Amino acid sequence: MPLKTTSTNAVPAFLAMAVMNASSQLEATGADVIHLELGQPSSPPPEAVNRALADALAQTSTHGYSLAFGETALRRRIAAHYADFYGVTTDPDRVVITPGSSLAFALAFLAAFDRGDRIALATPGYPAYRNLMLALGIEPVLLPARAEQGWVPDLEALAANGAPLPDGILLASPANPTGVVMSDDEVKSICEWCDRNGVRLIMDEIYHGLTFTGCPATALSFSDSAIIVNSFSKYYCMTGWRVGWAIVPPELLETVERLAQNLYIGPPRPMQAGALAAFDDYAVLDRHVERYRENRDILIRDLPETFLGDIAPSDGAFYLYADISHLGMRTPDSMALADAMLREAHVACTPGIDFDREQGHRHLRLSFAGSTADMKEASRRLNDWLPKFLAGQ
Ligand SMILES: Cc1ncc(COP(=O)(O)O)c(C=O)c1O
Repeated sequence: MPLKTTSTNAVPAFLAMAVMNASSQLEATGADVIHLELGQPSSPPPEAVNRALADALAQTSTHGYSLAFGETALRRRIAAHYADFYGVTTDPDRVVITPGSSLAFALAFLAAFDRGDRIALATPGYPAYRNLMLALGIEPVLLPARAEQGWVPDLEALAANGAPLPDGILLASPANPTGVVMSDDEVKSICEWCDRNGVRLIMDEIYHGLTFTGCPATALSFSDSAIIVNSFSKYYCMTGWRVGWAIVPPELLETVERLAQNLYIGPPRPMQAGALAAFDDYAVLDRHVERYRENRDILIRDLPETFLGDIAPSDGAFYLYADISHLGMRTPDSMALADAMLREAHVACTPGIDFDREQGHRHLRLSFAGSTADMKEASRRLNDWLPKFLAGQ
């Protein structure tokens, strides 16, 4: 008898992870691959973080379960961070620590929306939002934020032609895959638009700290009903530690707590002890941001203009969203290009189709989170390989 499987088997694959698999298989054969596909810092977290983790591991009291919302000390420290960094006061009781921000999205979707509800997503955007929504029976609504919209979502387009407004909107600034940073006025007017129209905003601020044009405002400054999501993964260089957080509106807290208890009991406890020290050394973290800026400038200067095309202004995060449609390929196909680049030039990147199912075949995402030496070598390899590849087209 065939056994029952769930319809979530139809959830689309996260292609960036598939590229990671393909590049590690190539590396296993001895190839020296440059990783422009990874959205993770190449630097370790500040020393104080590692020391705090080692101290926590030496104390058996930190080996048990954490409370569902996480350690009180870390929740307070995050609330203090909002005061220090943004000058905004928030109640530590609204801070929910999660196993990576990934779980914060699951909590937000499950606590604030029902199956069949619609959430608008800036497109191109981080693929896991959409894939998780599909798994939960939530309908993702495409909200274009492409070159034609100045790379910032056009909310008025949602109500065009009398279409019903979505139940929620999920935005990220700085954005993945474009690196585009919304102005404070744009964030404010989106918060006000959502509150005015009864649309729940989820704001992904995971790339805050990683900006090259000053510190953007948090949506928390403009809305008490928005769910704010952040993480220790990017600016704090702690991807594998799996610690993130959300600032949750009071009316959702009870449901979020029950969901957290039943989904994962509580976030990893020793990792939270390490994360507590992450806020003590902004100077070390800001030096990495300087390197990312240098890396970005090297790629923009050294890669062929036709390869980058009309790139979005990458003022934050660590990505360039290259528009390959000017390259002169017979049919622009970012999957085929990324595949050939990996196999022939040993440079890994992520096809845009992961971020934009409709137009992503024209784009590649290049991550410059790696070392400066890697950026120079990637540019050298691509300048050498691209003419040969195009000649064979
Ligand atoms: C925009 C965005 N949001 C959320 C995440 C999830 O990060 P984590 O679960 O490590 O906090 C990522 C990871 O790359 C991301 O790019």
